[in-house]
Amino acid sequence: MSIRIFIANWKMQLSPSESIKTARSFTRAFKNDNSQIIVCPDFLSLPAIAKEFKNTNLLLGAQDAAAYERGAYTGEVAASDLASLGVSYVLVGHSERRSYLQEDDKLLAAKIRMILDQKMVPVLCVGENAAERKQGRVSSVIRNQLKGALQNLSSHDLRSCLIAYEPVWAIGTGLNCESTKALQVKNIILEWCQRSGVKKMIVLYGGSVKPENASSFLVAGAFDGLLVGGASLRADTFKKIVRA
Ligand code: PGA
Repeated sequence: MSIRIFIANWKMQLSPSESIKTARSFTRAFKNDNSQIIVCPDFLSLPAIAKEFKNTNLLLGAQDAAAYERGAYTGEVAASDLASLGVSYVLVGHSERRSYLQEDDKLLAAKIRMILDQKMVPVLCVGENAAERKQGRVSSVIRNQLKGALQNLSSHDLRSCLIAYEPVWAIGTGLNCESTKALQVKNIILEWCQRSGVKKMIVLYGGSVKPENASSFLVAGAFDGLLVGGASLRADTFKKIVRA
């Protein structure tokens, strides 16, 4: 079985001092874990957590990166600076950024380029909202999001990305996306990647993942891992997900 990937997306939920405390509890909880665990704290907490994770099996992720190399971009954080801190994964196109900050495909494609150029792994988040699902538009929404952000990548670059399917209506709502429904979307993603020259793409699931439902997304042939928000804020809860 290939190694499973678990990403903890702490969003803007913790202060820097709470983040460091939580990061310490993660290093204790996952000392001997074989899974790939990636923690995405807020930007301010990254340097301190990078130190905590040194010589551990935990990896550091960022929640975003700038679409530009360096320059007069107020409030942005350069991918090169994330890389030099030891960040190895970067979330791109999370639905909260797509909706609250109007991030569009062109911007996401530019961010992915910057992240890849720094030898980090972009984790592209895709997912339909409730209205799109109701209207039966799931596959076209997902294909358009993939195309918009990834179509200009070579198959070599595409192979260096991860994709997270996160139905918007399931994020932070407690609403469970049945694993059969989620798997249908995984297949849409895999088909799109195969047509773009990548036979085996790593696809994660995210959206109200909890210890109680985690295993349904991880059974054989299902997802390669999970992207977890609310249930990743405590090491003990997250551990139950990782062990599911
Ligand atoms: P949630 O968030 O687990 O709290 O639903 C997931 C995410 O937004 O990545």
